[in-house]
Amino acid sequence: MKLNIKNTEKFISKDKLIKYQKKAQNANNSLQNKDGSGNDFLGWINLPFEVDEALISDIENTAKELQSKADFMVTVGIGGSYLGAKAVIEALSDNFSNFKDRDNIKMLFAGNNLSEDYLYELVDLLKDKSWAMTIISKSGTTTEPAVAFRILKNELENKYGKNEASKRIIAITDKQKGALKQLADKEGYKTYIIPDDVGGRFSVLTPVGLFPVAVAGFDIQKLIEGVKNFAKLSTKKGNDAETYAAVRNILYNNGFTNEILVNYNPKLTFFSEWWKQLYGESEGKDGKGIFPASVSFTTDLHSLGQYIQDGKRNLFETVISVEKSKNNIILPEDDDNLDKLNYLAGKHIEEINKSAESGTLKAHLEGNVPNIQIIIPEINEFYIGELIYFFEKACGISGYILGVNPFDQPGVEAYKRNMFQILGKPGY
Ligand code: PA5
Repeated sequence: MKLNIKNTEKFISKDKLIKYQKKAQNANNSLQNKDGSGNDFLGWINLPFEVDEALISDIENTAKELQSKADFMVTVGIGGSYLGAKAVIEALSDNFSNFKDRDNIKMLFAGNNLSEDYLYELVDLLKDKSWAMTIISKSGTTTEPAVAFRILKNELENKYGKNEASKRIIAITDKQKGALKQLADKEGYKTYIIPDDVGGRFSVLTPVGLFPVAVAGFDIQKLIEGVKNFAKLSTKKGNDAETYAAVRNILYNNGFTNEILVNYNPKLTFFSEWWKQLYGESEGKDGKGIFPASVSFTTDLHSLGQYIQDGKRNLFETVISVEKSKNNIILPEDDDNLDKLNYLAGKHIEEINKSAESGTLKAHLEGNVPNIQIIIPEINEFYIGELIYFFEKACGISGYILGVNPFDQPGVEAYKRNMFQILGKPGY
């Protein structure tokens, strides 16, 4: 991957960049030396260098076993126990894989909302299907996945009987603490452990991300290779994670308080959801933080494009630009040419997309929207792995520059306390 910051030059001075690059370097050293705030949650930093080969083989074998016996895998989890896996799977999947009658297992997600309709309709879909379930919860007590799991576990047991159901449930949870670990031990579920020192939003490279990605049929070794590649680069002075963190903090201090992650490929839409949690939960605290938003272009040029071009000038964009599409499709010539598109005939759709990207970049720059560009050659396991570690490392650095602990999330508890009081949970 490559980082291009030349389209921020108009908005930040050279002196500031040098000053903030120094701050970024210090923050990165603090992360590496584990002497900054939240340092009990820095297990993710060395994960790519400490890959347990036996665990990877075990994950791959279990994934294969489930692929051979189930047509659908329901992954139950929320927040950090959901977004990373879903982001990687959507990025790598055929856009319509769940509708194509192919051999691949179909991936479904639950426990990420409290909608009765969602659960009812999921149960209805699964009634005559062959399925299995992965429950992911570090604490084991998060309401949304716990509610979904209780319902789905009953469905699975009613369908297959307790014994076979227990072979179709995989639990990914904390090593000792927590209700899910207790239940998994009691019922004999296959279990994978989430390390104590890795928080949810930094856990893609633990079984939280690796297991669902392997079940979906993707190469987790290549994903790890990509992560490792950027992890190595990120220990060097002046690396791209430091530069991205420095630039976004300068922009923030210059009044650009909202960052929009932009893609031009719907496969990356959910990657933005993962990124929003990573940056939102890490930086949005103590009355500070860049607000992380996202758009999928060109779709959203027809909805949010007006605001970005012309609305309140507190926005900057970070574009994930993919050089090459996976497939080819060419616009045909049309004899009547009523749509006046013959001037594009013979062109790849991606060439038209790239022209939209260049045109938008120019327009938004003219509209005073600073632009950071992250370029990857194509969407595959390796480059998605690189992007994950790039954003994680930059997030830690950026949080330290901002002066917050990027590894806690005290604000998430407020709604839970109120909800528990309203619901009459004992002790609230
Ligand atoms: O990042 C976080 O810490 C949260 O988003 C959690 O991952 C999320 O609440 C899920 O928690 P758990 O895995 O304990 O169910």
